[in-house]
Amino acid sequence: MEEKELLFTPIKIGTRTAPNRIVLNAMECCDALDNGDPSPATYKRYEDYFKGQAGLVILEAITPQYDYIARRNQLSIKEHNLPALKKFIAHLKEINPDTLIFFQITHSGEISNNVYSQRIRVTEEPLPGYEDAKLVREEEIEQVIKDYVLGSKYAYEVGADGVDLKLCHGYLGSQILRPFNKDNWKYGGSWENRRQFAIDIYDRTRAAIPDENFVLGSKISIYEGFPGGVGTAGPDTALMDLTESIDLVKQLEAHGASYILQSAGSPSHTLDLAHPDRRTPDYAYMHFYFQKVCRDALKPETAVIGSAYSIYRDGKQPFCAVKPEKNNLRFWGNKNIKEGIVDAIAIGRQAFADPYLPKKMMEGNEKDIHWCTLCDHCVEFLIRQHHVGCATYDPHFTEEYVKMIKEEGKLKAKHT
Ligand SMILES: Cc1cc2nc3c(=O)[nH]c(=O)nc-3n(C[C@H](O)[C@H](O)[C@H](O)COP(=O)(O)O)c2cc1C
Ligand code: SF4
Repeated sequence: MEEKELLFTPIKIGTRTAPNRIVLNAMECCDALDNGDPSPATYKRYEDYFKGQAGLVILEAITPQYDYIARRNQLSIKEHNLPALKKFIAHLKEINPDTLIFFQITHSGEISNNVYSQRIRVTEEPLPGYEDAKLVREEEIEQVIKDYVLGSKYAYEVGADGVDLKLCHGYLGSQILRPFNKDNWKYGGSWENRRQFAIDIYDRTRAAIPDENFVLGSKISIYEGFPGGVGTAGPDTALMDLTESIDLVKQLEAHGASYILQSAGSPSHTLDLAHPDRRTPDYAYMHFYFQKVCRDALKPETAVIGSAYSIYRDGKQPFCAVKPEKNNLRFWGNKNIKEGIVDAIAIGRQAFADPYLPKKMMEGNEKDIHWCTLCDHCVEFLIRQHHVGCATYDPHFTEEYVKMIKEEGKLKAKHT
């Protein structure tokens, strides 16, 4: 009998099993209803994800509070959202009971929108570009932790299979973890203080949800790629030093994380590192190293999921010194799993371009896949706070993109 490709073999995440190793990364689309409930557009997106048979779907960043948010029309997880979220999850599970779904609980911190929300910082000295952020300390951060815990508890109650306690991409989690958080306060200064924020969230979340079948894990930026960012040697250097990031994943594992979703960069500061695009495809190779660092640091039973795989598509990307047949998503996914670099791969933009990719691959219909062109029009929608979708393959969003450019002109700076 022919051996199954590793990408399509089941994977255990905590006590749960995802039927294959293709994960749909969290992708916010700014299309919730005014009260934060899923809208018809949200329904359509996740219905497609579930019909497309991904092993695991990470629900886009969902907020448990309204004071510090990065996007208008973001999904929220407050008491008034529970009936709608319950119905949403039941509907998705009815479509496909095998695909797992984890909610990504977020707090936007200093990259909250400064027009209709409030930016916050945790250092006397603001990060350049974030001078308008309000300084907060223990009292406000205690509330943030309570919000993470309550949001997670609500996720459990509405039927999610787990939560992704977001610690990546320049949002509050990574803001507190990074060396730039240099003042001496409860969660600042020494590495032991900075990591304690994440540890407290894990301990208090698990205490609030004592059901081991509910999975905890985090997406992390292992190296943010700017001076003082996560994974640097100090508050004023960009020199890569992964000592703290390695300790972080071990600490999360010790405090209940069943998986780590590796990412790098911060879309507000180092977008190309987080989302390698056509101009910078080679950045994606660095993610392999970051995945291996996590894999080597963790116990075999803790799953490592790798990010930034969209760029490889069918091999037709402007990489040099490689053959397309040895530089595509399927090739690298299987090879990296086989070689113990990663346990599963996550796709972000490719999930917009074709949410049916896992099913098509499993059924041998690869020729029908709509490969993401990495044009980044979807990123542009996000930056400008429009509803997000694929402007290449969805005619509605092609029209919306043309209209947006006509009305707002060309984008001046490409960062979120
Ligand atoms: C429109 C858009 C929305 C995103 N929303 C989120 C999000 O809610 N949470 C998150 O952790 N990452 C978010 N990301 C980042 C992706 O999850 C992913 O890490 C990134 O796109 C790199 O993967 P890719 O190369 O497969 O696209 C978003 C990216 C895009 C383009
Ligand atoms: S808009 Fe472009 S980058 Fe975004 S999913 Fe579609 S093809 Fe990919």
